[in-house]
Amino acid sequence: MKTRAETKVDWLEVAGRRIPRVWRELWPARQRGGHSLHEISYRACFKAELPRFFLRRMSRPGDLVLDPFMGRGTTLIEAALLGRVPCGNDLNPLARILCEPRLDPPEESEVEERLSLYRRDLVDPGPDADEPDLEVFYHPVTLGLLRALRSRFLEGEKSGSLDRTDRWLRMIATNRLSGHSPGFFSVRTMPPNQAVSIETQRKLNERRGLRPEPKDVLDLMARKSRSLRRGLDAEVLEGLRRVAARARFLTEDAAALESLPDASVRLVVTSPPFLDVVDYAKDNWLRCWFNGFDAEAIGRRLSTPSRLGEWIGKMMEVFRALVRVLLPGGWVVFEVGEVRGGKIRLEESILPAAAAAGLEPVSVLVNLQEFTKTSNCWGVENNRKGTNTNRLVLLRKPGGLGSREGRPWG
Ligand SMILES: C[S@@+](CC[C@H](N)C(=O)[O-])C[C@H]1O[C@@H](n2cnc3c(N)ncnc32)[C@H](O)[C@@H]1O
Repeated sequence: MKTRAETKVDWLEVAGRRIPRVWRELWPARQRGGHSLHEISYRACFKAELPRFFLRRMSRPGDLVLDPFMGRGTTLIEAALLGRVPCGNDLNPLARILCEPRLDPPEESEVEERLSLYRRDLVDPGPDADEPDLEVFYHPVTLGLLRALRSRFLEGEKSGSLDRTDRWLRMIATNRLSGHSPGFFSVRTMPPNQAVSIETQRKLNERRGLRPEPKDVLDLMARKSRSLRRGLDAEVLEGLRRVAARARFLTEDAAALESLPDASVRLVVTSPPFLDVVDYAKDNWLRCWFNGFDAEAIGRRLSTPSRLGEWIGKMMEVFRALVRVLLPGGWVVFEVGEVRGGKIRLEESILPAAAAAGLEPVSVLVNLQEFTKTSNCWGVENNRKGTNTNRLVLLRKPGGLGSREGRPWG
């Protein structure tokens, strides 16, 4: 069912001030859609039009733009496409693996040559002692090639010998590991941003009579590479390379950001975990295995508390870190959701914490548009606990020049 609503405004009381909450469609259909480079899936990622809307209005080319919870790096890719300098942070090192190669894509000829070399040279090293039972997802021949790719990437990472083409192909292989269509390496399963457990896949295979077929892994990688590159021309590549050399990637707690200098960031566009609605470590376990990361250990460090008070406390620490790294007058766009079936409105919870941390609450924008976040590959709505609106909390660090005052989104 479509939920398209008229523009309306209500008011929130925050620290003795009235803050408008504006409900409207922020980006009409003709402004939706993103560059092909964005097409790397990630659980609870936002769409390119969200950071684009604010990047255009609240930053200029050359400005440093930060996402402290970067995920697949939607903010960073869009910032780079618009000539801003991207800076991203995520406690899961997978985020950098998925984002960094797209700031400096190799030429198509480099990709083809490298895939031919892989086809000639890669040898299955056999399973590690602790390899999970991956044959529920892959045909033995496919699994052999995946192990060979994995060990090439892990060894290259250790010795520092991976070049941009290897990193691009590692990102693509990570993205193609499992999914619901023939373009993925696995038997039919859930979408790629949500790997199911081995036990669940075993049951799915039994119930649906599925058996992993051999896949031409390198050919599927070549196709995905072409598809990601289809929006790239010489001008876009040149623009990306100009900012890629200055891009920054951190793997810290978003409340730390210790390696970022004070007063350096013009704009933050970000989306934290919404309480415990998504289990980022579990959904990414297969991608973590492929890249040699311990998903459980990462999961224990992520900020996904079930209790609202604990979540607010954590976000307050994040706001304090943002106040330090922002330029005076710099902006924060903090996307949160309506969770627990609408009983908790995170934007209302977050505003007093932001004000207490030293950010000036400016407004809340609620983007209304039809609900499209449903995955029906198994006839299952996978976002039942989620939200169908983007709630964007706009905050500003006090000070700076007056030119960015007012309503830059208007
Ligand atoms: C909603 S997702 C961000 C998605 C992103 N906007 C995108 O478009 O892909 C939240 C991210 O926060 C990360 N995360 C959770 N707790 C964190 C913390 N304390 N510090 C840094 N990153 C954290 C998770 O690993 C996850 O990638």
